[in-house]
Amino acid sequence: MRVIDHEEEIVRLKKERNAIILAHYYQDGEIQDVADFIGDSLQLAQAARSAKADVICFAGVHFMAETAKILNPERIVVIPDLDAGCSLADGCPAERFRQWKARHPGAVTVSYINCSAAVKAESDYICTSSNAEKIVRAIPADKTILFAPDRNLGRHVEKVTGRTMIHWPGSCLVHETFSERKIIALLERHPGAEVIAHPECEDGILRHASFIGSTTALLKYAVSSPKQRFIVATEPGILHQMKKQAPDKEYIPAPPMNERCACNECPHMKRNTLEKVYLALRDLQPRIEMDASLRERARLPIDRMLALS
Ligand code: 13P
Ligand code: SF4
Repeated sequence: MRVIDHEEEIVRLKKERNAIILAHYYQDGEIQDVADFIGDSLQLAQAARSAKADVICFAGVHFMAETAKILNPERIVVIPDLDAGCSLADGCPAERFRQWKARHPGAVTVSYINCSAAVKAESDYICTSSNAEKIVRAIPADKTILFAPDRNLGRHVEKVTGRTMIHWPGSCLVHETFSERKIIALLERHPGAEVIAHPECEDGILRHASFIGSTTALLKYAVSSPKQRFIVATEPGILHQMKKQAPDKEYIPAPPMNERCACNECPHMKRNTLEKVYLALRDLQPRIEMDASLRERARLPIDRMLALS
C-alpha cells in the first residue's frame, strides 16, 4: 500500500489547483508550516480579500472561511472540516440576535467577527480583537452600542475606550478556562515572567497581563520584548510561531482550571488535520456556499470594518 506524504501532496495540489492555504495560529504546527499565510482574524480577512488564487483552503474555523467566501464569491473556498465551529458563533443564533436588536431601536450593533454570516448580515459593523477599539471609537458618542457576541472582549473595549455598551452574554470556551489562581502561582515561581493575554479572557486573567492583544499582537510583543519568559493566555497553537520566531525565549501556556483536560486547546480549530487539508485540496470539498443575498448583506459591515482598519 502506498503511504501518502500529505505535505508533499499538499505542495503538489496547491500548484495544480492554483490554491492557497490561509491558516490561523490555533492550527496544529504542521498545518501552519504548509500555509501560504498565517495571521489573526483581521489579517486573514485582508489576505482573503486580496487573494488571486482560484481556490482558498481556509485552515481555521467556519466563521473565518465564511468571511473569506463573503469577500470572494467567485472563488472556491474549502475548509478541512466543515464542523469546525466556534462557541461564540454557536452561542449567538441570528433569530435571538434580531430579537435583541429589536429591543434596542436606534442602537448601533458591533459584532465580533466570531459570528455567523446571518448575524453579520444583521450588524452595522464587524470588528476583530485587533480593531475593536478603533471601530467602537468611530461610532458617534450619542449612539447606544450593542456589542456581540463576546462579553469579555466587549468589557475590555469598554475599559480602554471609556464607552459604555450593552453586551451579548457570550464567551469563548477556551479563553474562559484559564485559572487566575494558577497564573498567580506561576508568577510567584517565575518572577520576571510576563503574562500576555488575548482579550477574550475574563477580567480576572486580563488584570495580570502586561500586554493584551490579538494573536498577531501577542506574537509580535513576545518576539520583540526584552523579556525572556511569557505566560501566554490564549490557545497554545500560537506558541508554534513564537518558538519559531524567538526560539531562545520561554513560553508557558496559561494553565486551565481543570488539569485533567486539554481544555485550553480549541476543540473546533483542532478538528482540522494535515490529512483533511490534503483531502480538501484533492476533492475541493467541503466547500463554503451561501445564498447571494445573505452574502451581500453580510459583506456590508465587513467592508465598513476593512475601510476603518
Ligand atoms: P484573533 O486571531 O483575531 O486574535 O482571534 C482569535 C480567535 O478568536 C480565533 O478564535
Ligand atoms: Fe471560537 Fe474560542 Fe475556538 Fe476561537 S478559540 S474559534 S473564539 S471557540
